[in-house]
Amino acid sequence: MQPIRAERSRGRAVLRLLGGLAIVGGLTLAVARADVRAAASPTFAKDVAPIFQAKCQDCHRVGSMAPMSLTTFEEVRPWVRAIKERVSTHQMPPWHIDRNVGVQKFKNDISLSDDQIDTIVRWVDAGAPMGDPKDMPAPRQWPSDNEWQATKLLGAPDLVITSAPYTMIAHHQDAWYRPVNEIPITEARWVRAVEMRPSAAPGRRIIHHAVAYLEQDDKDPLAFPPGSANAGGERRSMLMEWAIGKQYDMYRPNTGKLLLPGAKIWWDEHIHAVGEEITTSVQLGIWLYPKGPEPKYPTYPTPFPAPKNSPCGNEPTPDKPGQNKGPPGF
Ligand code: HEC
Repeated sequence: MQPIRAERSRGRAVLRLLGGLAIVGGLTLAVARADVRAAASPTFAKDVAPIFQAKCQDCHRVGSMAPMSLTTFEEVRPWVRAIKERVSTHQMPPWHIDRNVGVQKFKNDISLSDDQIDTIVRWVDAGAPMGDPKDMPAPRQWPSDNEWQATKLLGAPDLVITSAPYTMIAHHQDAWYRPVNEIPITEARWVRAVEMRPSAAPGRRIIHHAVAYLEQDDKDPLAFPPGSANAGGERRSMLMEWAIGKQYDMYRPNTGKLLLPGAKIWWDEHIHAVGEEITTSVQLGIWLYPKGPEPKYPTYPTPFPAPKNSPCGNEPTPDKPGQNKGPPGF
């Protein structure tokens, strides 16, 4: 014990000494420290705006789904306390990967690095200065609302399937709309990519989410795994779903979805009222493989199995094979 106590009292003596020095040079030190902080503190224009462009504005811009736009300093300024809170607690950007376990590297990782979080927090703590407007990065350019996202890789879709439109009045309870479309193909074709979306921007406000189920006379039992037939029929499986922020599904090389003549899309659209009347369809863009060598591997929808006895699992129950216990529409 003795040596530790000696250590401690020595430590206290050093602290007292430093305290004395600080008082002696208090004014000078304080000024110097403020200078250092001002010089080192990040600014919106130089340090924070580029992070927001890369990690926030996909959702936080006019016409997208987040509640406020974070593109200009004026837009951002009223939110800085909430921003510090949300980024330091890893709530924003939404990215729910456990940092302590499992796969950590994802191509489309939208989360913030520790450095970026640190920059934002230090910027807010320093009073969220604008900095020199000349440091502002050029504004990001966004694709038009009506452009399929996969176009940049694959060109225009080969087929666009459009559901019958639905008009949601200004005030109403939620609706589930389930029209059907035929896919206009006369021979079996392999699908390379699919993308789905409400047909125009206003529709993206009333479509909470939408699912496209594929119905076709596929003899392959794997094409309709248990849990995939919950739209009501035994020959339907989920092909694609849309909710705000969703991108396209492109199948891996040599892999695809085989579409058969007579295939149909059964839509399941969850629609909600937003205070004004809006009419919209939902669309499915389909990119086909060229005819010729066929992909070797067909893709199958595979619901994640939940642990046994989970109240919200997708496990088929023994008495109801193929029955999905998950939420309706999943
Ligand atoms: C994938 C879309 C998405 C991205 C990316 C995203 N946000 Fe959000 N953000 C949302 C949505 C949706 C909400 C509203 C729901 C909520 O509050 O959680 C929200 C809410 C917030 C709020 C709370 C607003 C309030 O009402 O208090 C803050 C602050 C915020 N975001 C900051 C950010 C910042 C900063 C980034 C980037 C570092 C970011 N978000 C990235 C979608 C996104």
